[in-house]
Amino acid sequence: MALHDAFARPLRNLRLSVTDRCNLRCEYCMPEDDYVWLPREDVLHFEETSALVDVFLSLGVDKIRLTGGEPLLRRDVPAFVRMLSAKPGLKDLALTTNGVLLADHIDALRAAGLGRITVSLDTLRPERFAALTRFDQLDAVHAGIASARRVYGRLKLDAVVIRGVNDDELVDLIEYGRAVNGEVRFIEYMDVGGATRWSPDRVVSRREMLDILARRYGPIAPIVQESSAPAEQFALGDGTVFGIIASTTEPFCKTCDRSRLTADGMWYLCLYATRGLDLRAPLRQGASVEALKALITTGWQARDDHGAENRLALGPQRAFVPVQDLLKRDPHLEMHTRGG
Ligand code: GTP
Ligand code: 5AD
Ligand code: SF4
Repeated sequence: MALHDAFARPLRNLRLSVTDRCNLRCEYCMPEDDYVWLPREDVLHFEETSALVDVFLSLGVDKIRLTGGEPLLRRDVPAFVRMLSAKPGLKDLALTTNGVLLADHIDALRAAGLGRITVSLDTLRPERFAALTRFDQLDAVHAGIASARRVYGRLKLDAVVIRGVNDDELVDLIEYGRAVNGEVRFIEYMDVGGATRWSPDRVVSRREMLDILARRYGPIAPIVQESSAPAEQFALGDGTVFGIIASTTEPFCKTCDRSRLTADGMWYLCLYATRGLDLRAPLRQGASVEALKALITTGWQARDDHGAENRLALGPQRAFVPVQDLLKRDPHLEMHTRGG
């Protein structure tokens, strides 16, 4: 029997953040000068995370996505992928990366059994990339994307769209996606913890994005899908498929089967949850598999989160965690700790 939450949503999709460190400073995620990092001794060893994953798999999880920060900053990620891919019951093992280090690791990741890759790419213009991420690394990202294409044949590309920053690049990104066999997904700018520069007027809505693309490409057909994935898919006249993740204007909490485990073993049931369940302490105190199962089961059964829907219902909003001091006191509130 699959485990369901208070709104009958199954536990299926686990996002594992392997580190809170990042080698870029994207304006929508890490715009500040200083951050408080998770204490190193709190970060779970891969063996520890793997033990928790076994418990999650026994309770119905069958999709895992590795995230960060930037996951490839953690040493030996391919070895961890190998541990995970060997587990029976896991149907989908993916990785979200900023692409900077991807070319160096792609062969090892593939050999270890990683199923698919998503690369974040918000702009194709070098100066803009440097301004948006604070590092001049666009060439490295292109190399990463090329390597993913070589090894996997295809990939997904995630672009957060911000008014006045990259909203004039939607067509260019679609064309680039075509050239590298990447399915581009445009993401509405979200007021998650860490997005301290967020304001409602900087959000480009799904509706606006579709209008921009229809002006260039003509009628756009929605692809009807039964899925809990955040992205809605669309097809251009020539069959090119792209996605929109309308987290801000049309949230998809009703079907949300995702939860997140931070690198230090805190389990979050919603991107917007202010509190998580500590799994590290019981794990390190030697809790039995049955005890961990009971903790996770009780946690999921009580889950009533609809974070993005609640944010929308509040009306024109301020940043989710407005007080920077608060973010600084608890790194768990940050999107980069939760893994996007
Ligand atoms: P697929 O399995 O390929 O569909 O992956 P995905 O789209 O779930 O994963 P990805 O890491 O590419 O997620 C893309 C972006 O969607 C994230 O970085 C977030 O911005 C957003 N997103 C993912 N999950 C959630 C969620 O549970 N709630 C909200 N509001 N946004 C989410
Ligand atoms: N709004 C939307 N998406 C975000 N991400 C991080 N911060 C935000 C935000 N404020 C997502 C992006 C990025 C991934 C790592 O996390 O998709 O590519
Ligand atoms: Fe799921 Fe929370 Fe995102 Fe809604 S806001 S889709 S409940 S993680």
